[in-house]
Amino acid sequence: MLFQATPQHEEFRAKVREFAEAEIKPIAATLDQENLFPDEIVQKMGQMGLMGLPFPTEYGGSGLDILHYSIGVEELSRVDGGIGVILSAHVSLGCWPIYAFGTEKQKKKYLTPLAKGEKLGAFGLTESEAGSDAGGTETTAELSGDHYVLSGSKIFITNAPKADIYVVFAVTTPDIGTRGISAFIVEKGWEGFTFGDKYDKMGIRSSTTAELNFNNVKVPKENLLGKEGQGFKIAMATLDGGRIGIASQSLGIAQGAYESALDYAKEREQFGMAIAHQQAISFKIADMATKLRACRFLVYSAAELKENHESYAMESAMAKQYTSDRCLEIVNDALQIYGGSGFIKGIDVERFYRDAKICTIYEGTNEIQRVVIAAHLIGKAPK
Ligand code: CAA
Repeated sequence: MLFQATPQHEEFRAKVREFAEAEIKPIAATLDQENLFPDEIVQKMGQMGLMGLPFPTEYGGSGLDILHYSIGVEELSRVDGGIGVILSAHVSLGCWPIYAFGTEKQKKKYLTPLAKGEKLGAFGLTESEAGSDAGGTETTAELSGDHYVLSGSKIFITNAPKADIYVVFAVTTPDIGTRGISAFIVEKGWEGFTFGDKYDKMGIRSSTTAELNFNNVKVPKENLLGKEGQGFKIAMATLDGGRIGIASQSLGIAQGAYESALDYAKEREQFGMAIAHQQAISFKIADMATKLRACRFLVYSAAELKENHESYAMESAMAKQYTSDRCLEIVNDALQIYGGSGFIKGIDVERFYRDAKICTIYEGTNEIQRVVIAAHLIGKAPK
């Protein structure tokens, strides 16, 4: 199936692009250099309806399709990859599991302010001993009367500590593997819920990432998301969609780097002509544009499958793995076109180069994406 970007999608792209160019581009280098979270920008994204793009209006969302969401993340990332992931982690990982698995009461209480952009969401799965092997979760949630007692730590959590609402995974029944994991909605500010220092990251520095610590946090029983023991499946299904977000982020970073390098190559003269007319550079530009086109088809078609409620887990893994790998090649070529000038802080391709790397790592390393793709094609290896 091929995606259908309608005139409405292109109008939406133009609107987000205008916002990103006018409001984000002038401050992107400062956010990166000073490791600053863009509070005001995120507030404006809420006012524009970006924070609840694919959710129904009855829950405060914009009621648009997944392709709009993908284009939104792409256009923000074209200017600032960090802001792209703030949106992606909020929508795909913070809001979506509540939308898909929450009770009516949970959706009203939590999804509505998240989708309106009044609150920021995050997803607490990864632990120091449970990275790629997410089923190795050690955080526990023990039922005690009308609440669960949550204990443990999560690492590398995007949007922490800024986020207000966290979907957190913990073991409720030990010794039965992934079927003993449950999901919970946890609010910032609850007693015993604290944060580690925010990480000083190589890239996507306008986004914030921190550790979560739970010291006997009382989580009301009504904040169990889905059923007890359903948590691992909720996490996996959430990541299937999240990977479309990261694929879109990779596409945007690559597009931004490509356009910047193209402009530079047309202006920069060596040997008496623009370097864009020299074959070594023009071939790079041709390859970059071809890769971008191939990636765009993969990403948008995964978005369309999800929108149409068709199976999309393999296609979103393909889109994430392929696009983030190509993104690394494209930012590398873009920096090469800039030559020494691209190696200097403050030049956008230098930032894109650093922002790109994480896309091959988070929301499942690209090695894990291949495990997922191969399992769909061949079946799981016997244990
Ligand atoms: N949807 C629903 N259920 C699924 C599923 C899916 N996509 N994938 C697996 N399951 C189910 C299986 O059917 C199985 O169910 P049963 O118990 O009923 O048989 C159960 O889950 C366990 O499945 P597996 O045996 O396949 O699980 P596994 O332990 O072998 O792990 C894995 C599979 C794909 C490697 C998984 O651990 C994984 O995806 N790892 C990567 C984790 C990851 O992506 N982390 C990212 C953290 S978030 C992040 O990075 C965000 C950010 O910063 C922006």
